[in-house]
Amino acid sequence: MTGMHHMLVHFPLAFWALALLMMVAGRLGRGSLAKASAGGLLAVLVLSLLGAVAALISGWLVWPVAANLNSPMVRNHLLMSIWATGLWTVITLLVWQAGRQAVQGARGTVLIVLGLVGAALFAISGTLGGYLAGAPTQLSALLAQLGWSVYGTFYVPVWALLVMVVLALGCAVLGRLGSPEHRSS
Ligand code: HEM
Repeated sequence: MTGMHHMLVHFPLAFWALALLMMVAGRLGRGSLAKASAGGLLAVLVLSLLGAVAALISGWLVWPVAANLNSPMVRNHLLMSIWATGLWTVITLLVWQAGRQAVQGARGTVLIVLGLVGAALFAISGTLGGYLAGAPTQLSALLAQLGWSVYGTFYVPVWALLVMVVLALGCAVLGRLGSPEHRSS
């Protein structure tokens, strides 16, 4: 299954990278390139999620479960893969809801910011996978400078998790208040 995982991970990584480029082209580009990018974005995002599911399943089958759960680096790789998949799932839902307007104006700018965070997450997941496969990259040196040694289990303090939950609820409330149905009622 090792070779299968190595092959399958290219699908979500490549489609997510392409989706980010399409968001930028859709938001900042002009003419047919912008139009094609906005129109094709949802299809690319859906394909990326199918690829992510295949990568997540095949990843579990590379090493025995006990080895996966005992290795801090696999735990980090697993965590970042799930976070990346979670964020790109939200992006996919947003694009599905908003259609071509997802890449226009302020929405498009927010989408690009989310896409950049998603790109950071999949890049970290990929660099950790590279370590596991014996091919480390310079990205981990940057992470070390930011205070995270990838050899130790990634740890988020409880207060930081609570701040994230409060921020998420705040965003949901703001989104609800700004929705057209709410404003018209
Ligand atoms: C979106 C999901 C995932 C992505 C994008 C991803 C990405 C990667 C990448 C890029 C590599 C390096 C492959 C290479 O250098 O050719 C890798 C290796 C690896 N991944 Fe994942 N991965 C994902 C999910 C998982 C999961 C869920 C697990 C297990 C819990 C896992 C376990 C591993 C292991 C053990 C290796 C090293 C394989 C070896 O021995 O060479 N991955 N992954």
